[in-house]
Amino acid sequence: MNVKEKVLRFLEDHREEFVSGEQIAESLGVTRSSVWKAISSFRNEGYKIEAVTRKGYRLRSDGNMLTQAGIASRFKYADPDLLTVYQETDSTNTRIKAAALEGAPHGTAAVANEQTAGRGRLGRSFISPPGSGIYLSILLRPHTDMAGAIPLTTAAAVAVCESVRELTGMDAGIKWVNDVYIGHKKICGILTEAVADVETGGLDSVVVGIGINYSYDPDSFPEDLQDRIGWIYEDQKPEISRNELAAAVIDRTIYYADHLDERAFIEPYRKYSVIIGRDIVCSRGNERFEARAVDIDDDGGLVVETDSGRRTLSSGEITVRWKKD
Ligand code: BTN
Repeated sequence: MNVKEKVLRFLEDHREEFVSGEQIAESLGVTRSSVWKAISSFRNEGYKIEAVTRKGYRLRSDGNMLTQAGIASRFKYADPDLLTVYQETDSTNTRIKAAALEGAPHGTAAVANEQTAGRGRLGRSFISPPGSGIYLSILLRPHTDMAGAIPLTTAAAVAVCESVRELTGMDAGIKWVNDVYIGHKKICGILTEAVADVETGGLDSVVVGIGINYSYDPDSFPEDLQDRIGWIYEDQKPEISRNELAAAVIDRTIYYADHLDERAFIEPYRKYSVIIGRDIVCSRGNERFEARAVDIDDDGGLVVETDSGRRTLSSGEITVRWKKD
């Protein structure tokens, strides 16, 4: 951790408390002027840090910003130097795809506080207002072909689900193929896009884009969406920061991608599936059929029982809904 990251960690650990520059400098073994420099730079980035004579500095909890230092200092696995945080961008998937074409390495990640052209699955747009969500994309360069890369989406869904469960204690689950739910409300969607190698026509890389609804802002979402979309913190004050959650999700997704062959994410995927054992309605284009979800195979495919027998659904272009009782 560099000085800036250490200072931020200290302020976050003492959120809403006044701490003096001297106290920070002594606890971290750094100079007071480096503490002052770090704090000025956080304030320029938009952190709400009060400075009061004879009391010191206080980080306000409503300054729940997504920042480079706040995320990178929490990485246990990902490379901090490969992370870019935007206060606003068009779409983090678009940013990371552009980076992929310029040869950016495996593990390059982009996080945004707001997206002006967020994209969802099936050509839909993804509403991405500032402050209430976490929008992030990760560049993965798996040593596999197009088909072999499909489980990466499954791995990302498990990474989100486990991070939410571990950090918040909430009962998050996964609806095939890659939506994360709390109760009957979707709190996260994932858009995975492949980048083709123009020379060979094979797979160059994969961009995994993750949108998490973190805290509820009634002004940002049309009312008709509010019975289907949920937020991790819908009617309670956030207990973990957006930085903590973003860091955990990026770390875990890259870890699972690096151990793709071991399929370590399949067991948790089965465990947290909210549709196994349930009657569902599947649709692909105009085709629609009813089935019972029975299992998830080792590639993340959904095994279903239909009137005409057992089959495995493997395309992300299939939409699955719970059948109403
Ligand atoms: C879906 O549920 O339809 C998928 C939504 C994926 C949204 C994320 S937000 C970060 C990344 N950038 C985008 O433009 N889309 C993905």
